[in-house]
Amino acid sequence: MRIDILTLFPEMFENVLGNSILRIAKEKALVQYNLFNIREYADNKRCVDDRPYGGGPGMVMKPEPIFNTIETIEKQTGTRSRKILLTPQGCRFSQSIAKELAKEPYLMFICGHYEGFDERIRIGLDITEISIGDYVLSGGEIPAMVVIDAVVRLIPGVLGDHDSTASESFSDDLLEYPQYTRPSEFRGMKVPEVLMSGNHQKIKEWQREHAIKMTAEKRPDILNKT
Ligand code: ADE
Repeated sequence: MRIDILTLFPEMFENVLGNSILRIAKEKALVQYNLFNIREYADNKRCVDDRPYGGGPGMVMKPEPIFNTIETIEKQTGTRSRKILLTPQGCRFSQSIAKELAKEPYLMFICGHYEGFDERIRIGLDITEISIGDYVLSGGEIPAMVVIDAVVRLIPGVLGDHDSTASESFSDDLLEYPQYTRPSEFRGMKVPEVLMSGNHQKIKEWQREHAIKMTAEKRPDILNKT
């Protein structure tokens, strides 16, 4: 998968893309990350945002630096990307959207800053708008990192044990069941006997039962959905 990131703050990504699973995915050549500083492509590098027409607080991202960046990239690659705009006005990000995006060969993330985007960025580009939740962050960079992390770990071969995404939270509309490791007793708290029994059928039943119980307790909204 190719991932292009358009941002005014490329340095914000270096640590996140350079560690843990995102780094391993790159080292395995399963993903390629390309950072583009939108400012570099602006007609006037000192002016990537401006005051809103009609008044109001804050600054708005100008369309031309973003269009210029995308057109330069598309001229180089000769291919079209699936474009994602990070904005609180987008549809709410979820595991099912992550799964859908993990099938794409080429994703492009457009990160805004300041109060928002000139509407012609939405009108003029074929774009999917994504929000990571009902709160406002100071830019699209952290949301882009959230989406990239959730997507890249789903690319086949990225995680050592490919099955490990199959049973995790949300994969079947349930939270994950409780997990234990050694020791079998810690400060008086014991690992449930069944998990140490070696009876795989019984273990599976316990895990399913507790996944449902955990979901009912912590996220009844998910259970009611199905
Ligand atoms: N930009 C600012 N806040 C955001 C959010 N909650 N999700 C996506 N992009 C954003």
